[in-house]
Order: sequence, then C-alpha cells, then structure tokens
Amino acid sequence: MTKSAEKPAIALSGIMRRFGDRKILDDITLNVNRGELFGLLGPSGSGKTTLIKLVTGIDRADGGQVELFGEPMPQLKMLQTFGYMAQSDALYQELTGKENMAFYGSLYGLSGKALASRIQSAAALVNLTDHLDKPANAYSGGMKRRLSLAIALLHEPQLLVLDEPTVGIDPVLRQAIWNELRALTQQGVTIIVTTHVMDEAEKCDRLALIRDGKLIALDTPEAIIRHAGVHTIEEAFIALGSRKEEQA
Ligand SMILES: Nc1ncnc2c1ncn2[C@@H]1O[C@H](COP(=O)(O)OP(=O)(O)OP(=O)(O)O)[C@@H](O)[C@H]1O
Ligand SMILES: [Mg+2]
Repeated sequence: MTKSAEKPAIALSGIMRRFGDRKILDDITLNVNRGELFGLLGPSGSGKTTLIKLVTGIDRADGGQVELFGEPMPQLKMLQTFGYMAQSDALYQELTGKENMAFYGSLYGLSGKALASRIQSAAALVNLTDHLDKPANAYSGGMKRRLSLAIALLHEPQLLVLDEPTVGIDPVLRQAIWNELRALTQQGVTIIVTTHVMDEAEKCDRLALIRDGKLIALDTPEAIIRHAGVHTIEEAFIALGSRKEEQA
C-alpha cells in the first residue's frame, strides 16, 4: 500500500474562510474516510457551499489545510479524482443533454466508445436516457439537476462532491438516486453531499452539522441523535445549535 492509499479521501484541518470581516467558516476540522457517504447539514447560509468549494479547490481557505487522498489542494492534477456537482447547474443551454455530457466527458479525457458507453450508463442512472437529444433549455429544473449529476459521475471518479444534488427531484427518483449513491460507496467511492433534507441526512454514514460556519456535531446520525437526547436529526440540530449559543 502506498502512503497516500492510507490517507482519508478528504482531510480538512483548521479551515478558516472570511469574506470581508465576516468569518464564514471557523476552524473546521474533519476527515471523510474512503468509501464513506458523508453528509454536510446546515441551514441556509451556514457555509456548506463555501466548504464544498474549498474541497474542490475552486476557492482557497484563509487558514488551515485541505487534502484529498493525502494531496494538498488546490492542485490541477487532483481534478481527475473527483466529480463535482455545483449547487447551480453549469450547463450549456443550447446543447442537448448528450452534447453537454460529451463536452464534459472530453474534459476528463473520455472519447469514442468509452465516452458513448459512459454517457449511456450515467444517463440511465439518473433516468434521462429518453431525454438525451433535447436541448438543456427544454429540461425541467429537476432534469437539469439529474443531468449535472450524470456529468459528475461520467469519469467514474473515486470521490463525488455533491452540493444539494436532489433539489427539485421528485421523491421516487430521489430515493433511486440515494440507493445509487449507497451502491457507489459499496464499490469504494467516497461521497460528500450537502442537504437540507433530514431524511437524506439520516441515510449518511456520518454527518457534519454546521451552523454559522462552526462544526456543532460530527458523528453517525444515530450517535448525534443519542447524544442530543432527542429522536430525530432535526431535533438534534435545534438542541445542539442552542447549546452552542449558550456556551458562546
Ligand atoms: N463570494 C462571497 N462573497 C461574500 N460572501 C459570500 C460569498 N460566498 C458566500 N458568502 C456568504 O457566506 C455565507 C455562507 O454561504 P454558503 O453559500 O456557503 O451557504 P450554504 O450553507 O451553502 O447555504 P445554502 O443552504 O443556502 O446553499 C453566506 O452568508 C453568504 O452570503
Ligand atoms: Mg449552498
């Protein structure tokens, strides 16, 4: 085993991020293990997307370190290792679903039969096979999310970084997508996913709860609920958040 093979998929230590004089992320330290389905849960504006952007190397921290598979970020060569689904879809509206996928696939070095075959399987996974020849601007919001997810999966990355992947997706397909995410982790893929949806959070192996840029809990959903002395993640969130405020 090489040295980097022992390292966690994501290692964040002492992450600080400020915008102006506002501390958006305040001393975030956590690891995401390989093969883990890891959820990032927090209210709107708590800093989830900011943290996700630091993981991908799109943004740089003002303090602390981000490592992917033992490699410091940002680093160009690490782009191949993960698939990223941003909170807002980055699609070419005039291009069809298939053309969007082909474009992004080519950025990852896919071509020919391998590209065609990956497009088919990623599209099938998100139930878009019958819509691949429509332009993206004719897609519904949920279909655009699904296309973005298919693009993130195209090059079969070891790590998936998903920022609210299921917003606008109906409950049946949402369930199917979560089943698929779980199947991917069973093949060794690591997934970090942000969500507002509590039943999704409960499907994660471990959760990081963030509030106002601070980590208020980091554990399995069951342990978080137990330690908070409540019955649901939603209640745990409220209980833990108010305890932190009392301490502050
Ligand atoms: N580039 C920026 N410049 C200034 N402030 C920013 C910038 N990006 C984010 N912020 C601020 O940082 C805070 C955290 O934003 P972020 O997008 O990380 O929240 P979030 O948890 O992803 O919220 P949501 O659930 O609504 O997506 C917000 O107050 C936001 O206004
Ligand atoms: Mg966000």
